[in-house]
Amino acid sequence: MKYTSGLLLIPLMISSYSIFAQKSEGMDEMWGDQKVIERSDIGARAALFDDGNYSMFIHWGIYSNIGNKWEDTTYYGISEWIMHPRRANIPAKEYMAEAKNFNPVNFDAKAIARLAKDAGMKYIIVTSKHHDGFAMYDSKSNDFNIVDATPFARDPMKELSKACKEEGIGFGFYYSHNQDWTFPGGNGGPSKTAKGKEVGFDYYFKEKCLPQVKEITTQYGDIALVWFDTPGKMEKKYVEELVEVVRKNQPNALVSGRAGHNLGDYLSFGDMNIPVRNVNGLWETVDVTNDSWGYAWYDENWKSPKRILKSVISTVARGGTYMLNVGPKPDGTIPIEAQNALRGSGEWIDKYPQVIYKADPSPWGKALPWGDVTVSEGKLNLCIYEWPLDGEIVLPGLNNTIKSAGLWVDGALESLQASKSGNWVTIKLPARRPEKLISVVELEVQGEILVDKSLSIDPAYSTELPVDFARAENCIIEGKRWMEKFGEWKHISHAHDWKDNSKVSWEVEIMEAGYYQVDLSYAGAGRLVWRIESAEGDMVQNQQNASHVYSFYEMGLLKFEKPGKHTVSVSLKEGDRASASLKEIKFTPLSSLE
Ligand code: GLC
Repeated sequence: MKYTSGLLLIPLMISSYSIFAQKSEGMDEMWGDQKVIERSDIGARAALFDDGNYSMFIHWGIYSNIGNKWEDTTYYGISEWIMHPRRANIPAKEYMAEAKNFNPVNFDAKAIARLAKDAGMKYIIVTSKHHDGFAMYDSKSNDFNIVDATPFARDPMKELSKACKEEGIGFGFYYSHNQDWTFPGGNGGPSKTAKGKEVGFDYYFKEKCLPQVKEITTQYGDIALVWFDTPGKMEKKYVEELVEVVRKNQPNALVSGRAGHNLGDYLSFGDMNIPVRNVNGLWETVDVTNDSWGYAWYDENWKSPKRILKSVISTVARGGTYMLNVGPKPDGTIPIEAQNALRGSGEWIDKYPQVIYKADPSPWGKALPWGDVTVSEGKLNLCIYEWPLDGEIVLPGLNNTIKSAGLWVDGALESLQASKSGNWVTIKLPARRPEKLISVVELEVQGEILVDKSLSIDPAYSTELPVDFARAENCIIEGKRWMEKFGEWKHISHAHDWKDNSKVSWEVEIMEAGYYQVDLSYAGAGRLVWRIESAEGDMVQNQQNASHVYSFYEMGLLKFEKPGKHTVSVSLKEGDRASASLKEIKFTPLSSLE
């Protein structure tokens, strides 16, 4: 990824980078060089992630009032970048003058803190100063802030920090420490002061960044976390000095992984990225309730309560913490659709707190076809996202004796029949699901939970296996990310660099022999001929079209003669090898095919 001096370019091309889960290597510069950090490395500070696992992110600033529409043009993507040359390219002077139009008169700190509490979120992280340089708090060191530069003329952070304290939830700040598009010397900012003096990063750091980090870590009581962002090529000495300020002023506060130079307290995944496999250590992923961090007038793509719950549960099941963003409207209120989704999902979390808080990750290391699993006090929480049509679910690879199985119905556990065949457990369920959102089966087993992490193919549900779980021969499997809209990130692993002798193989475990429909999800150019073959010798070969968008394409019926472990391999027989990019394979039992 290339950076021009002073301007952090979001990669508009598809770029590849390593996935923590596979290689535990740092990401590229945009989100900083990070390593896996264990709880033991940071002691008591880790409690926030152990007790919390779920929090609210708030992106709020002048950009909220602009709402991604500038001079009658709407810019689709993350709205807090509206001023950037890759968006509306608003000159700094013109953008700063927008402060006089920013007056979020309906801002209600207590309502927002209450919403976070009702959502089941354990702390709030709010933008104190974003890349645009505007401070959402009473900054004595720089008057481009909400108190001095807007008709609102009061400090919402005083109110919000107090409201969080009263609600018993944590409070912290996002601070963009490297980028500052309106202050001389900031990354992406002007290179001259108002008096025409050429200045560099050191000037910005000493005149604005350092004083402001001191302000946000001393003016608002106890801080749970300081969320530095996009360190870019910031020199280590600057990051060290900022982290030192946080440690001195807020010894119990976490520092985000995006501080840079591995100086954070945990690993911050890229935006909107929930890993498909468990990741060790302390880590967090951040997401949006719609498609943009800051408010965007058109953005109604709100996540449903169930979608939010699946994201929270699956993040915890992978071993992480989930921070979900709201972008206040121009009047300072949270869009009602976001409120509804947060309250709806919060009501569920209030009924099933054990699934989220202090919960341990899934012993399966990945999601299962019908849902996902967390562990609390040694008991398995089977979270069923899709209620079964045949009155049962199958739990693969469980090597323990079952002590008890129960379905949570109106706060009570109703006993269930669980039977084992080898290390496949079949759990009978009633026809009617007890929860419209996600129903939970609690399973207690003898002794320590022992799971065979084979890639099981469900006998009823479709099983999707990303290439993250496959082995590559003579081709490459690695991470890849791209932006749907500007700043709206998608993250996958893909198999590429195909040659005649390339092969991608999955070691799968089949419970029931028979025919399975096999589909492949891939992108590419022109028509492609794929071959899927099992070690037993059955083979499906088919030509399907391709496009730059990843979609599932039907390949055909593959037959497994016997239950047990099988190797299934995919190779590319014809078509454009340079563009072919395989994302995952899907198996659907013939009996379940429509
Ligand atoms: C990226 C964006 C920034 C946003 C952040 C949220 O760093 O540049 O605008 O605040 O992601 O994680």
